[in-house]
Amino acid sequence: MRSSTPYNLFIFVISTFSIASVAFSCGLTTKWNVSVISAIGEDIVAHIKSGDDDLGNHTIPYVGIYSWSFCENFGGGTVFYGYFWWGSKFQSLALIDNNIERRCYFDNVATQRCYWFVKPDGFYVSRYPNGGGELIKHWD
Ligand SMILES: *[C@@H]1O[C@H](CO)[C@@H](O)[C@H](O)[C@H]1NC(C)=O
Ligand SMILES: *[C@@H]1O[C@H](CO)[C@@H](O)[C@H](O)[C@H]1NC(C)=O
Repeated sequence: MRSSTPYNLFIFVISTFSIASVAFSCGLTTKWNVSVISAIGEDIVAHIKSGDDDLGNHTIPYVGIYSWSFCENFGGGTVFYGYFWWGSKFQSLALIDNNIERRCYFDNVATQRCYWFVKPDGFYVSRYPNGGGELIKHWD
């Protein structure tokens, strides 16, 4: 059955490609990549979690970045909270919810990106990695 080889190879390539592409692209839902960048001169600690994922505690040094990716829940509504410690200061806020996703959303890109800048006066979010953005919350 020499003639079946190309057909089998074709099926193999197609199915391998679809599995890889589903894993990479989140299938029908949107892939997000969120970065938290510290502009604070001392180490801060960030604890980020959603209902499904606990990303744990991470120390972010001055101009350090912590980033993660996730697939939006089917039908939307994914929420990630961030808990931040800076010396004796503390703050918590939603790093991803519908309100924040709307501020970061770009038309026609494969991966949506949100950039959080943690500054001495508070937490800024932007769709651009430019250090600017909108002040969402002050430190307590
Ligand atoms: C995360 O870090 C904070 C601040 O340093 C600390 O209070 C908390 O216990 C830590 N949580 C875990 C699970 O390590
Ligand atoms: C998110 O995107 C940044 C580039 O903007 C990249 O450096 C980082 O590795 C990505 N993070 C994840 C978890 O994919």
